[in-house]
Amino acid sequence: MQINHASLPGAADSAALRTWAAQYRRFAEQECTDDPLYVAICRAIADTPELLALMQHAPGQQARPNLLLAALHERLLVGVPHALASYYPSCGGSRAPDAELPALLLDFASQEQPALIAHLRGRATQTNEVGRCVVLWPALNHIARWRDADRLALFDFGCSAGLNLGVEEYRYDYGVFQHGAPTPAPLLIACEWRGDAPAPRAAPWRLVARQGVDLAPVDVQDPAAVRWLQACLWPHDRVRAERLAQAVSLARKAAYPLRQAADGLAVLEQWLAELPAGVQPVLLNSWVLAYFDAPTLALHRERVAGLMRRHGLLWLSAEALALRPPALAQPPLPQDYQPGSSSLWTLQWADAGGALQQQALAWSHPHGRWLQWLALPP
Ligand SMILES: C[S@@+](CC[C@H](N)C(=O)[O-])C[C@H]1O[C@@H](n2cnc3c(N)ncnc32)[C@H](O)[C@@H]1O
Repeated sequence: MQINHASLPGAADSAALRTWAAQYRRFAEQECTDDPLYVAICRAIADTPELLALMQHAPGQQARPNLLLAALHERLLVGVPHALASYYPSCGGSRAPDAELPALLLDFASQEQPALIAHLRGRATQTNEVGRCVVLWPALNHIARWRDADRLALFDFGCSAGLNLGVEEYRYDYGVFQHGAPTPAPLLIACEWRGDAPAPRAAPWRLVARQGVDLAPVDVQDPAAVRWLQACLWPHDRVRAERLAQAVSLARKAAYPLRQAADGLAVLEQWLAELPAGVQPVLLNSWVLAYFDAPTLALHRERVAGLMRRHGLLWLSAEALALRPPALAQPPLPQDYQPGSSSLWTLQWADAGGALQQQALAWSHPHGRWLQWLALPP
């Protein structure tokens, strides 16, 4: 193995190696248990100081197992020929993890070291989970019925590649009924619906404006950027990968407007001011608020409250339970509740007197495998 040890290991670095090894073991035991390949790879990394040493190239907060896993995956998705690919279902492989895997992993990491280091230094794990649209569509339908609005406008804060902006283009199969785009739709997403099912609005609604904003939007026209999104998925999950590929291909044609901005709410304010009259604006964030520290989140909430009061904006939020609107009581937990990964979908608005109101709409699996509808029909 020719991993470059130039800045390793002093006594402090040995401590760092032990910390990273513990992180990989924990990741194998708790976070990727449904992917045997990632379990085996994480254990192999934890046992191999040369591989652990790569983590020194990831900046502080990013030094997490899934960044190196994504970097390795990206090199295989790009088509680098190596026997390691035979373990990755995403690369056509079907080999089960075996005793040869650690040596092949080390050999591959040695061969690809410069590219891996570049990823560790410059990339962050980033996904865009189009499966969340299984809840976004009924949530928008709920809003359309409640507000008697047939024209909605969607602003996706923390949009990643903007794939949630295609919510109307996908069809949703909830088992007993379907919603969304007419058949045959280019993308059909399956979801188990739990709870009462509100009827769709009698007259159909549509999105007449869409905008995404992100600190680092993913350009769907850039193959390398899209490959990184794919690399951040786990290699065994072919359903998610296929869904992502189809949504990206639709987004390439639709070219939804995405903006890079450090202050996304300033972009939102300008967008609201320019919307045609009679359109109901909706702000969406899904799995974004966790990136904020407490003071930033408080300021964000205050600024969005002002926009709700001044522009009739509705705020749809899909986040972990702890990030629900502060005045919302905790709804009963769903059957498969997973702390830190089940999504709670909430709606907030300002009433005629300017007081903030909130409602829990649904629980869902983070990738939309199931949803439990909570909101009463409007
Ligand atoms: C976990 S991803 C979720 C992406 C997408 N909303 C989804 O549901 O798949 C979080 C996204 O939030 C973005 N983000 C984090 N902080 C942000 C901020 N202050 N302003 C805009 N985007 C932000 C990240 O760049 C990343 O694309």
